[in-house]
Amino acid sequence: MEHTEFESHQNARAMGVRMPLWYLASTSISVPVKGIEDIVKARQAGLKLVQDLGFSESRLALVITAISELARNMVLYADCGEIALSKVVYRSRDAIMVIAEDRGPGIADLETAISGGYSTSGGWGLGLSGLSHIADEFEIKSYPGVGTEVIVIITSA
Ligand SMILES: Nc1ncnc2c1ncn2[C@@H]1O[C@H](COP(=O)(O)OP(=O)(O)O)[C@@H](O)[C@H]1O
Ligand SMILES: [Mg+2]
Repeated sequence: MEHTEFESHQNARAMGVRMPLWYLASTSISVPVKGIEDIVKARQAGLKLVQDLGFSESRLALVITAISELARNMVLYADCGEIALSKVVYRSRDAIMVIAEDRGPGIADLETAISGGYSTSGGWGLGLSGLSHIADEFEIKSYPGVGTEVIVIITSA
């Protein structure tokens, strides 16, 4: 689903996202995530979105890692959700903004979850903390019983 700039702006607003200056989305696409097969779909949609933006190999790897991790968490902990991918300009560079939103159980101890090494699934617990380090911008909101929203921005270089 392709959105106009205005629509994606409106969608982001509807999700309660703050609209800072770097938010200059030109195209965005939304991928429903309902099962593990959608992790690949979200990843491919992300790669397609940035294919003409001249991302370096290593930056593309970060994009893939970010989308995969957020989609995986969604399937694992929230059962389902939605990943919105937008082309943005961030600090004068082309970038991708990934917004992962779910109406799952939320994360009770957000600080611990982001600091790393905390996992409720026997994992490494390094997904969110890793993302917070590799992304140019990382923001997470989570409310127990309501859901979780993660915003990540990765620039092309
Ligand atoms: N979308 C989500 N909904 C609910 N809980 C989540 C979500 N994403 C992460 N979590 C919680 O945060 C913890 C840390 O996540 P993460 O850093 O990705 O590590 P891991 O997936 O290896 O456990 C998870 O174990 C889980 O308890
Ligand atoms: Mg994880």
